[in-house]
Amino acid sequence: MTKITVKANGPYLVEGADIVDETGASFPVEAGKPIALCRCGASRTKPFCDGSHVAIGFKAAETVATFKAK
Ligand code: FES
Repeated sequence: MTKITVKANGPYLVEGADIVDETGASFPVEAGKPIALCRCGASRTKPFCDGSHVAIGFKAAETVATFKAK
């Protein structure tokens, strides 16, 4: 099962998933370890978090936005 944890003012931690680009090429990930994906836009190693969210003082408006289906 894939699990995505939204970190407060930080990355998305993804567990149990393969990360691929638009061509289907896989990014190397270590089995059994969570992957941190950038959501602040400042990482120099996108799609992965490199800790830059701390340096820029990234503040997310909320951890998980409320979604309402129409
Ligand atoms: S969330 Fe960590 S560098 Fe963007």
